[in-house]
Amino acid sequence: MLIRRIKCLRYLGTRHNSSHYVTTPIFYVNAAPHIGHLYSAVIADAHCRYQRLRYPEKEVRLCTGTDEHGTKIQQAAALHGIPVAKYCDDISERYREVFRSAGIQPEDFIRTTEERHKRAVAHFWRTLQGRGHIYSAAYSGWYCVSDETFLTDSQLRLDKSTGSRYSLESGHPVEWTEETNYMFRLSQFQDDVRHWVKQEARIRPAKFEKILLDTLSEPLPDVSVSRPANRVHWAISVPDDDTQTVYVWLDALVNYLSSVGYPNEGFSGHWPPTQQVIGKDILKFHGIYWPAFLLAAGLEPPGQLFVHSHWTVDGQKMSKSKHNVVDPAQAARQYTMEGLRYFLLREGVAHSDGNYSHVKAQRILNSELADTLGNLLSRACAKSLNPGQIYPSGSAEHLADLLQSLDAAKRLQESLLQLSERCASHYECNHFHLVADTAMAALHAANNFFESSKPWTLKAGAPDGNAPRLETIIAMTMDALRLCGIVLQPIIPQLATRLLDKLSVPTAQRGWNHLAQSFATSPADLAGSRQLDGQTSALLFQRILEEKEKEEQKPQPAKRSKSKKKECRETLS
Ligand code: MSP
Repeated sequence: MLIRRIKCLRYLGTRHNSSHYVTTPIFYVNAAPHIGHLYSAVIADAHCRYQRLRYPEKEVRLCTGTDEHGTKIQQAAALHGIPVAKYCDDISERYREVFRSAGIQPEDFIRTTEERHKRAVAHFWRTLQGRGHIYSAAYSGWYCVSDETFLTDSQLRLDKSTGSRYSLESGHPVEWTEETNYMFRLSQFQDDVRHWVKQEARIRPAKFEKILLDTLSEPLPDVSVSRPANRVHWAISVPDDDTQTVYVWLDALVNYLSSVGYPNEGFSGHWPPTQQVIGKDILKFHGIYWPAFLLAAGLEPPGQLFVHSHWTVDGQKMSKSKHNVVDPAQAARQYTMEGLRYFLLREGVAHSDGNYSHVKAQRILNSELADTLGNLLSRACAKSLNPGQIYPSGSAEHLADLLQSLDAAKRLQESLLQLSERCASHYECNHFHLVADTAMAALHAANNFFESSKPWTLKAGAPDGNAPRLETIIAMTMDALRLCGIVLQPIIPQLATRLLDKLSVPTAQRGWNHLAQSFATSPADLAGSRQLDGQTSALLFQRILEEKEKEEQKPQPAKRSKSKKKECRETLS
């Protein structure tokens, strides 16, 4: 009977609109953004950028924003002695700013304090109430302000020495609460939610599906969906009962609907979300409460939840008390925002926690962005080899010869031939680390080819017939750079743009379909010779130096010629 109800919603069938709606969690404004928050947003942004690149006909929509109600925010504002509305404005703006600087371009940035959202919450509440899913009851339990949730005894840890209790999962303290609340009949949706979770690729990575199914194997208790207004005043009032305010998680989850205009008619053109990106700590809310609320309201639950794990810092959980919270702006000063984006997507894997460390970030960025990618571009653009500053067309005859006589050329060709398909399949699963791996492998092959073909032994412009071979080597190298630039656009959009700008690749030729044209596919696909863009530097990514090295590199009158020599060596070697 229940299953029939959800089948009626047709959420198992193919999607009936062309919208590809992606969301990030909305971020609490109790404290400033850190790299963990940025990670959720960067995953969603890279996913959307890939979708736009690969399927230009799709209407891709990314929504992010801030979660601004509840005790936690109330307390944080009071602690800072700032009026709560102003406190929310300030921190919300910091999120906007960090996302802007990280190249995250959402179609919408929603705040739960906006009127459009309050209207949506009121409508959603009335719908649940009208359908008989909400009732009033006396409620008592342990409330965790930091997690904004009631916890059961099995979710608590008792510190015997102090008698205090803490959330087992987050480690935050809980307080005993007795109040009259409105309750949602979650227990009635157990089978529906289980059925939804079990659909193919509903929850990814699969380990999080298992976690949800384990939770769903125990009876689900009903859940409190309001708090007394005299306790939680910074919240949305329950419609027709201003002694109660809406529970912050119900309020927050509805943001995904408000953003697309719910309850106005047009919202269904975007509903349901194709993919919702969340961190593992908020799986229960999105994997159990959320589908249950939606089903109860007669709406389709999301197509997929993509769940990511957390960042630790030097092996430790990030926390204010440990003073190890990584500020994205600070990290960007060390690595640039693009460097930080690359590191997060390159090193993070969704199924297990990642460790953020300066040593690791420096090693990866120097070896991959500076040496493997950046240095190859510098070498292919070096004036000594490429005095005309062109992306040459190369010659079919020399191409055939190089492919036949040089193993490294053949390996480069093979690697480029597989690039598009491999990267597409990794992107489809949000396996950004594997996309980066594949692109780096192709660039290693290109560096190898460049070394093995010894272009510096061929004099540019010499009348001895060397020039066409030299140009072919440069053309093949630039082709590899161009293809990797196209593929890496979702991960490092600004660097990839600079690379493609330098190579004068027209904007209309940066789509996924242009990966099919290169020397690797056919000699006829070698680009016609074109001028490189003189306005864009060939120095794509500067090596990250330790403070000591920076000092050494500072221009000092006596040592100037030495550092100049080093610079030349780096470009030419
Ligand atoms: N406001 C709720 C979400 C409501 S969505 C309807 C919330 N906010 S949060 O600011 O605490 O977290 C937002 C996102 O940041 C979550 O996806 C969370 O998992 C992620 N991260 C918080 N700390 C993190 C790390 N240390 N590492 C990676 N992501 C982390 O929860």
